[in-house]
Amino acid sequence: MDRSPQSAPGGGSDVAEGPERVHLRFEPDATEVRVPAGTSIFDAASWNGIAIDSTCGGHGTCKKCKVRVLDGEVPVTAVDPRAFSPDELRDGWRLACRAEARADLVIDVPPLQTRPKAALVGVGRHVILRPAVQKRHLVLDEPSLEDQRSDVQRVLDGLDDLEPRVELAVVKTLGTVLREAHFDVTAVVADDVLIAVEPGDTTVRRFAIAFDLGTTTVVATLLDLETGTPAAVRSMLNRQQPYGADVISRVSATMLDDAALSALEARAHETLSQLAAEVCEEAGVAPHEVYEIVVVGNVTMTQLALGIDPEPLSMAPFIVASHDLPPALASDFGVSAHPRAPAIVFPSLGAYVGGDIVAGMLATGLTRDKRVRLFIDVGTNSEIALGSNERVLATAAPAGPAFEAAQIRCGMRAADGAIEGVKIRDGELQLEVIGDVEPIGICGSGLVDCVAEMVGAGLLDHSGRFTDDPRMTKIGEERVFMLADDVYLSQRDVRELQFAKASIATGWNILLREMGLTPEDISQVLLAGSFGAYLSPASAVRIGLVPPLALPRIVSAGNVASEGAKMAALSHRERAEARSIVHEVEYVELSGREDFNDLFVDQLAFPG
Ligand code: FES
Repeated sequence: MDRSPQSAPGGGSDVAEGPERVHLRFEPDATEVRVPAGTSIFDAASWNGIAIDSTCGGHGTCKKCKVRVLDGEVPVTAVDPRAFSPDELRDGWRLACRAEARADLVIDVPPLQTRPKAALVGVGRHVILRPAVQKRHLVLDEPSLEDQRSDVQRVLDGLDDLEPRVELAVVKTLGTVLREAHFDVTAVVADDVLIAVEPGDTTVRRFAIAFDLGTTTVVATLLDLETGTPAAVRSMLNRQQPYGADVISRVSATMLDDAALSALEARAHETLSQLAAEVCEEAGVAPHEVYEIVVVGNVTMTQLALGIDPEPLSMAPFIVASHDLPPALASDFGVSAHPRAPAIVFPSLGAYVGGDIVAGMLATGLTRDKRVRLFIDVGTNSEIALGSNERVLATAAPAGPAFEAAQIRCGMRAADGAIEGVKIRDGELQLEVIGDVEPIGICGSGLVDCVAEMVGAGLLDHSGRFTDDPRMTKIGEERVFMLADDVYLSQRDVRELQFAKASIATGWNILLREMGLTPEDISQVLLAGSFGAYLSPASAVRIGLVPPLALPRIVSAGNVASEGAKMAALSHRERAEARSIVHEVEYVELSGREDFNDLFVDQLAFPG
């Protein structure tokens, strides 16, 4: 597994070319945006918070997304003549979802016909509620000798603003459903597929589940798509734990034992299906009322859950099965939902920058914000992204298990009894312990705090060596710093943390270098992931894990992967944005870079 910072040099890295960008001005507000050439006007507007009418989700069927091109060339598409007269076309009217921006444009956006509902999700993101799952209540004319339209045609004719594809499974039961319900039914459309026709009016009942499929913890959020609010949230440990704490050990398990891949797939399914059952039960929702699931996870977790061999992810040249997986169903993840509910899987940027990070970028608006921001998801494999709406670079730094405290002598997960915070004030040691119980170990955030405080108190020098301070004691031959009766920190533990933080710091230094920026150019540091959420910004700066910004500018972004998953369930536009992030963000491979080792060695010391 060639993921160590010291791994083989050669090759030289480098950054993929970013796509060409075009400049759009939206009237009447004169909002200026830059997007990759070829982006639809509809997406360019919605990514920048400019609402354009739509009910079909950009499929070109509702004909509501009318805009007028005031300046610049946009060819007439095949659908435009169905929505506009020849005069209107000459005047520049186009359907925004069909119109590709290939040159600089000025576009007039008419006022909205309907007032959209919005939900606050992500990191302060206001998402306009436009779920891909839509319902239409239809009271249809009963067939007669004068009206012999087929059952399918009758339903499609009732859906005036949508033109979905129809699944065979729906046709099989359609005749019975229509007649038993006296042609009073509700059509359920997910994206562009008619997935169900239900008797009566069920329009107020539509749900989706957003899953954050983490290596350690899995979180499920049941979303009411009518209101945009979470109906229930549950989390549990990933049942794959017995196969190893991190992705590398789980991949190793599949390489050592032929049966392990299907066992790991089954464990993932058990985890997801138990969570789905729990959130549905808590909210009084029947599984068949869940019409979609969204799954975000790192690439290894996603591939294992789908039974895809993860071995090529684990060794150079680190190849993913597919950046954007083919359409899947909730049942492919073992989740009992509506039998034809799709599973939306977040796309990945690279083997070590997966859908969870794309979700994080979506939730933080990293690719849309004018400010230069640094995003770090701190973990065994730490993902780092840097940029603004102009350009974003991302990389993955193999930090090793120090943050999970796995290779720390008294390390433990962030559970009851773990020291999660350490302060040394006037020579006095103050501990924060999870669960307010006697300390039995130290977790990642406690480790970072402890080392930062020891540097501040003169117990560690800047190279990371224990000083001759009398507060140091010995266990056997080893010099240690005692935190509690059975909890201590050894010199080796400090070295583990130094390697981890140097790996991350090298990652963001290389991204700064590639962008031609310095730490002073960064407006904000976003610490993501379950570990990042508990990390003290002051300690992170003191050990050099993050650049030395004023502390209010270093913020914990929380579980951004879950937030991104929720956004994709609530808005098809946000979902489209997630796909565009994959094309816009440039991936920088650290393995094999000639400058990696020198930079890494520079970053081992603690800042003076
Ligand atoms: S036609 Fe529906 S969004 Fe364009």
